[in-house]
Amino acid sequence: MGKKKTVYVCSECGASFPTWSGRCASCGSWNTLVEEREEKTAVRRIPSEASRPEPITTARSSQDYSRISTGINTLDEALGGGIVPGQVILVSGEPGIGKSTLLLQICSNIADSHKVLYISGEESAHQVSLRGERIGALKENLLVLAETNLEVILQAIKEEKPSFIVLDSVQTVYSQQLESAPGSVSQVRHVSGEITAIAKSLDIPVIIVGQVTKEGSIAGPKVLEHIVDTVAQFEGERGHAYRVLKVIKNRFGAAGELAVFSMEDSGLREVANPSSFFLAERPEGKAGSIIFPYTEGSKPVLVEIQALVSKTVYAVPQRKTQGIDINRLAIITAILEKETGIFLKDRDIFVNVVGGIQIKEPAVDLPVALAVISSLRNVPVPSGIAAFGELGLTGEVRSVYYTEHRIKEARKFGFDKIIVPASTQLEDSSLIKIKNLQQALEYLNGT
Ligand SMILES: Nc1ncnc2c1ncn2[C@@H]1O[C@H](COP(=O)(O)OP(=O)(O)O)[C@@H](O)[C@H]1O
Ligand SMILES: [Mg+2]
Repeated sequence: MGKKKTVYVCSECGASFPTWSGRCASCGSWNTLVEEREEKTAVRRIPSEASRPEPITTARSSQDYSRISTGINTLDEALGGGIVPGQVILVSGEPGIGKSTLLLQICSNIADSHKVLYISGEESAHQVSLRGERIGALKENLLVLAETNLEVILQAIKEEKPSFIVLDSVQTVYSQQLESAPGSVSQVRHVSGEITAIAKSLDIPVIIVGQVTKEGSIAGPKVLEHIVDTVAQFEGERGHAYRVLKVIKNRFGAAGELAVFSMEDSGLREVANPSSFFLAERPEGKAGSIIFPYTEGSKPVLVEIQALVSKTVYAVPQRKTQGIDINRLAIITAILEKETGIFLKDRDIFVNVVGGIQIKEPAVDLPVALAVISSLRNVPVPSGIAAFGELGLTGEVRSVYYTEHRIKEARKFGFDKIIVPASTQLEDSSLIKIKNLQQALEYLNGT
């Protein structure tokens, strides 16, 4: 082995550089470069019998797998029908969001018929057991291992040969083969590489927990997204009961699926019908609120978009968002000013997606624009109206994915006027087809 060099590794994206700088040149994050020893941590592949090329028509049969149910219907659906043997799933989320709680519940469900190993690097076996008692997860077949040493963990997996493993969390586990501290990019990569290798070779499905932290010295889950089969993000607002598990990558099913939960004393309870859940607290007849049929996969959810526009007391007006990208709001605001001639430079604008869902899809543009106008004019959007569509820079409303799914969900919940892009193929009396922002506003003015 040659002399080890010092490198600077970005804890956000894992890129490494020979010198330190304040901003990662690869992903653009600030203050995320951390000094690490360069260590060769090539993930060893366990050679199975030598692979040979085979016709695609027969390749399928050798991969026949039966999926394991998590015991939570909506979660199984979101994963494409359950967990596949050997599948490695990364569940990421901020501390306190409920990852350990949900995973212990899943472990408990699976332990009804399989041997399950829950590896906790954050809590003692006693703490896990206390939580287990609270949420009803005390099962004979559920083994707890409070350990942070990777080599001990791998040994335990080989000895116990469980049918399902949870590793909570990857940032707390370290390999004694590496010098760097637990949570560093090289440790996190090495640990997940080894766990993935053993999962694949023994056909055991594994869920790896990745903490999302603001601290630059701990590697974020992004670093290992390419190693795992499936990436799920656990989102929600602290202090609120809603939690959304969103599948953003899946080698064994569609991405973009989601499962909604509510946090209760006895753990997380699945919400079978999320739309009615999110609509339950919607205020009637208030300006600045509109319903948006959101989806990034097959299952749409009706969410309320709220905007508050008020006169600013600052030289530079404030723009704040929760649930949508703040830069997107800046663009929407600019389009609104240009296309409608309204003046927003002396107004603070706040936009909130109720329920804590993070919306990354452009179909939210139109409802955001309409909510902002509604709040500015203090005129409520009539309660039966929903809207979706992407806004182009010239104010045109562009088509988006899953139009039919969205319309169906909105109709199901009694929304009888749905503002949609003009290019929508469907014919239905409830559809208000618009070409641009102007037409949408004209329609609302006439209601
Ligand atoms: N005794 C309790 N009763 C009810 N809820 C609790 C209790 N203890 C913890 N919780 C809830 O569980 C959450 C912590 O969940 P946890 O699964 O440990 O999160 P994570 O693993 O994502 O950090 C807390 O934010 C709190 O809402
Ligand atoms: Mg935890």
